[in-house]
Amino acid sequence: MENVFCSSHPLVRHKLTKLRDIATEPKRFRELIREIAMLLAYEATADLALDRTEVQTPLGRAAGALLREKIGLVPILRAGLGMVDGIWEMMPGAEVWHIGLYRDEHTLRPVQYYNKLPVDPTVQVCLILDPMLATGGSAIAAADILKRWGAQRIKFVGIIAAPEGLRAMRSVHPDVPIHIAAIDSHLSENGFIVPGLGDAGDRQFGTG
Ligand code: PRP
Repeated sequence: MENVFCSSHPLVRHKLTKLRDIATEPKRFRELIREIAMLLAYEATADLALDRTEVQTPLGRAAGALLREKIGLVPILRAGLGMVDGIWEMMPGAEVWHIGLYRDEHTLRPVQYYNKLPVDPTVQVCLILDPMLATGGSAIAAADILKRWGAQRIKFVGIIAAPEGLRAMRSVHPDVPIHIAAIDSHLSENGFIVPGLGDAGDRQFGTG
């Protein structure tokens, strides 16, 4: 599928297998979310723009390059929270903007409950962070919000996607690349990804 990047990195595949395991406790689950997020963000940021520069080393001048654009990490609450810290360590200059969305359990439509974006955009590249892309409603809503805000470039970094959600996201936001660790079989009647990993929010926060 165009603009969908599913990682085949052995570390990602190994960690994803542990993540899915029903026996994985919340502490290890959080660590795995953080580690997989870092690996996927590394792949998702491979095309960031650079400015050439030079630095003085102890022995002379060295050619170098520095990131040109300001990056915004945009976790979708709650489950996206666990993807922030690891990525932020790799790019400490990033800004973090939270968007609160929950899925209505009957309609499966996203409901917004938190958004404190300032009036004008302050970053050039936004990484939407949410481990699960199920119907795609939450990812679509987050990209809608960021586009209305004026974000120039948006990428979605998730962990597991259902084909239904990928198709929906592709049809509404074909310009937003999707970086994930797995494309699963289908959605259940209740809108859960099968086989998936259960509820990513509950498993991180021990609330299941
Ligand atoms: C889950 C998940 C996504 C959303 C995916 O969140 O973290 O945000 O559902 O579903 P969609 O693609 O069909 O929109 P949930 O509503 O369970 O909230 P939580 O993260 O606060 O637990």
